[in-house]
Amino acid sequence: MRITSSLVTRRTFLNTLFGGWLLAFFSGSLYSLIKFAFPTIDKEPDFVVLFARDFLPIAPNSVKSFAWGGKVGLFLKKTNGAIFALKGVCTHMECNITYKPEEKKFYCACHKGWFDDNGKNIEGPPPKPLEFFDIIISNENLIIVKKGVNIDPAKI
Ligand code: FES
Repeated sequence: MRITSSLVTRRTFLNTLFGGWLLAFFSGSLYSLIKFAFPTIDKEPDFVVLFARDFLPIAPNSVKSFAWGGKVGLFLKKTNGAIFALKGVCTHMECNITYKPEEKKFYCACHKGWFDDNGKNIEGPPPKPLEFFDIIISNENLIIVKKGVNIDPAKI
C-alpha cells in the first residue's frame, strides 16, 4: 500500500515548531530569573567550617567528604597521617572523583581520569592537578580555606 499524503500536516509541523520555541523561551527566562533571585547558586565559598572531631579521627589512607558550596570537598588522611583537603571535582569536566585507597589515587569515572594522592593528573584527559585547600585547626573546628584567601580564625 502506498501512502499518498503526508502523515504530518503543515499545521502540525508548525505547531510543534512553535511549541518547541515557546518551551525554549520560557526555560531560558526561568533560568535567568532563578539566577537573578539566587545569585549565590553555584558560587564556591571562600572557606567552610567543620567539626574537627568528625574528620581528624578518620583512618589513615582514607577520605571523608564535606560540602564545598554546591560541590563536594574531600578530606584526605594519608598513610603517614598527613591531612589534606581538596575539591573532589575532576579538572576535566567537573565530575566527582573517588579515592582508591588500594592504589592511593583519585579516579574520575567519567572519562577514566587518574590523579595521584598529591592531586597531580597522571592519566586520562584531566588537563591540570586537583585543587587543594588550606586547613586551619582552631579550637574544635577545622577550617577549610581556599588558597589565597586570608581569614582570621578568631573571628569565626
Ligand atoms: S570529567 Fe573527569 S576525566 Fe573527564
